[in-house]
Amino acid sequence: MSLTDPFVGLVPRKMTDSELARAIRLNVAAEVDAINLYAAHMDATDNESARRILAHIIDEEKEHLAEFLELLKILDPTQALDIEKAGPKVRAIVDAPTAEAAHAAHEAIEAGESADADEEPVPTKPPGLGKAPTVGSLRQR
Ligand SMILES: [Fe+2]
Repeated sequence: MSLTDPFVGLVPRKMTDSELARAIRLNVAAEVDAINLYAAHMDATDNESARRILAHIIDEEKEHLAEFLELLKILDPTQALDIEKAGPKVRAIVDAPTAEAAHAAHEAIEAGESADADEEPVPTKPPGLGKAPTVGSLRQR
């Protein structure tokens, strides 16, 4: 059973970037679902041909997942900043010697973000593209 509703192609209007970001988040979920499903199929068989094909497809789905995340960063600059800041947070937690130190490190980074947030304005236009993509512009011709 799918975790997502299928996208209906015939729509009365084009989506806004905010609506498209929601749709892309569903695509992210679908890619994650596919990766886990194919990995489970690999685990369930000793057929080497099937395992090789599934491994190849899993690699492709991981690439799709990364591409959708990059598109989401273009469509949602606030989420792009969250993604950018997640790396330092995760590294601080992983590198901390204890759970308490990890919590403190995370809190310190959060406190630092609050100060930075006052200084760095959130971009209002998506970076990377001259014009934000629409459903129509992403369709293959
Ligand atoms: Fe995919």
